[in-house]
Amino acid sequence: CGIVGYTGPRRAVDIVVEGLRRLEYRGYDSAGVAVVDSAAGGGGRIGLEKKAGKLANLTAALAEPDSPVGPSDAGTAIGHTRWATHGGPTDRNAHPHLSADGSIAVIHNGIIENFAALRTELEDRGVEFRSDTDTEVAAHLVAEAYWSLDGQNLGHTSTDDTPGRLAEAMRIVCRRLEGAFTLLVVHRDVQGVVVGARRNSPMVAGRGQGENFLASDVSAFIEYTREAVELGQDQVVEVTADGIVVTDFAGGAAEVRDYHVDWDVSAAEKGGYDYFMLKEIAEQPQAIADTLRGRLTEHGEISLDEVRLSDQDLRDIDKIFVIGCGTSYNAGLVGKYAIEHWTRIPVEVELASEFRYRDPVLDRSTLVIAISQSGETMDTIMALRHAKEQKARVLAVCNTNGSTIPRESDGVLYTHAGPEIAVASTKAFVTQIIAVYLVGLHLAQIRGIKYSDEVAAIVDQLKATPDAVAEVLTTMEPVRKLARDLSGSQQVLFLGRHVGFPVALEGALKLKELAYMHAEGFAAGELKHGPISLIDDGVPVVITVPSPRGRSLLHDKIVSNIQEVRARGARTIVIAEEGDHAVEPYADHIIRVPRTTTLLAPLTTVVPLQVLACEIAAARGNDVDQPRNLAKSVTVE
Ligand code: G6P
Repeated sequence: CGIVGYTGPRRAVDIVVEGLRRLEYRGYDSAGVAVVDSAAGGGGRIGLEKKAGKLANLTAALAEPDSPVGPSDAGTAIGHTRWATHGGPTDRNAHPHLSADGSIAVIHNGIIENFAALRTELEDRGVEFRSDTDTEVAAHLVAEAYWSLDGQNLGHTSTDDTPGRLAEAMRIVCRRLEGAFTLLVVHRDVQGVVVGARRNSPMVAGRGQGENFLASDVSAFIEYTREAVELGQDQVVEVTADGIVVTDFAGGAAEVRDYHVDWDVSAAEKGGYDYFMLKEIAEQPQAIADTLRGRLTEHGEISLDEVRLSDQDLRDIDKIFVIGCGTSYNAGLVGKYAIEHWTRIPVEVELASEFRYRDPVLDRSTLVIAISQSGETMDTIMALRHAKEQKARVLAVCNTNGSTIPRESDGVLYTHAGPEIAVASTKAFVTQIIAVYLVGLHLAQIRGIKYSDEVAAIVDQLKATPDAVAEVLTTMEPVRKLARDLSGSQQVLFLGRHVGFPVALEGALKLKELAYMHAEGFAAGELKHGPISLIDDGVPVVITVPSPRGRSLLHDKIVSNIQEVRARGARTIVIAEEGDHAVEPYADHIIRVPRTTTLLAPLTTVVPLQVLACEIAAARGNDVDQPRNLAKSVTVE
């Protein structure tokens, strides 16, 4: 879900809706906004508008003449864009939720795990619920806590009659909630104040001039300020136009870190492309260059000073786990081939959602690499906490400054890919591979290695990858044509060997996510052990072929696999490097990529697969940037 809060001199509803637009990639099952207005006869009133479906439905409702929010000039508002967990994606379950007396509006990201018990308790007191969400309990509880504080002076800055009262009510409630939550509340009688709380779900504050912001991430307010405040776990924040006051759940002062966001609003806009995804595909050469910047010395060494793990720590490692979800997991799978080869340290790659439930063998000399674009994926957070409990060292590979995963890890290597907005990950994938490779090369160098010549050569070749990816991008026209041709297919299969296998998984994942088509990735050699029965006349099979130079055995084996599927009627789409003529007799379509070493090939071969999925989805009339049922950042387990 995405959340936004604003208080200041501008029309808050505009700021909040604009923020939601930038956060919509976090969930788009419904959207809603609540403003704190002054009521006709004095006092305050909450204006509420919420709608199932995409943000466009909410903006249409706000434009109606009878909208309770549309015409409001109020300077304080909160807004939400939802990825449904408890309760279907309906108007009724859309956020904000009001307390029974209408005094409080609440929005929430996460899951309140003890909501059933709290709901029963409230119903026993006669409270009637108006939704199926876990969130609504928070609205009723904050309202009750607020009224129970009548007349007490609670310190802190605030513009209501009893300073700090809403924040104190929030703290009382947070102490009772279990699970993960970011909550924002406003009260009808508390003009100019938004109170937020954070446990295990993302939230940052934005420091403006005479105005302040709260949001799931900085893109919501980047247009107004690049000064952000990183909020920690179990903190309550009270935001007014002039100040941001942060406490822990007990009310004690809490430490926060201010930081400057080093990208601007243009990075979060489409810039002439039809979709964010196409823009992000096109940004890959630059993103890779940014990941490498400052990390390769002139003498072919890797310099990863920011990693915060000492050389001795890294020398002591005898086992590596790589954990991640979705595309980040696929990047980890690619990393395994390289790290094991260069360092001879055993590497296991595991889905973060499975990791902690199977009692993995970890200790002080285990390195866990947690890969996450957003840094907020709950499955990955829980896996890394488990690793830390077992005393393993955790290194995050992450794209989002100050997010939870790097904060909780022992060290971090940022990918510096810039904001990724399209739900289907592209530039994050290639930069994650680069970052994991840098870790592998660094480990190899400090530990002394068997393949030192090869490592030195790879360092040089890494520098050439931005150009190689840029070259691939110039040859995508035939892929677009092919995509239109394939858009009516029932299924598409992807085959690869070695690092080409995770690339096949990623190609299939992209197609499933975007085109809602049955797509599977297989290790090419495994096909004959079962999946080959899926092949029928005309079934498209995409095969990434490793270089015939170097590992020629691998190349020859896959050429045989292409023949096997073709003999059974498959339509073969072969991705092969320039000059590889051996594949030509068996390929119905050839997509050429520049020559590279096998380990670097995923960076170029994945590009046509991204373009293929994007264009097939567009040809099928799907929403490329916001595919159904998905969200960019999944902050529940
Ligand atoms: C979601 C997204 C995927 C992404 C995965 C992991 O499921 O839809 O595209 O790969 O989360 O996200 P992360 O931010 O941890 O890399």
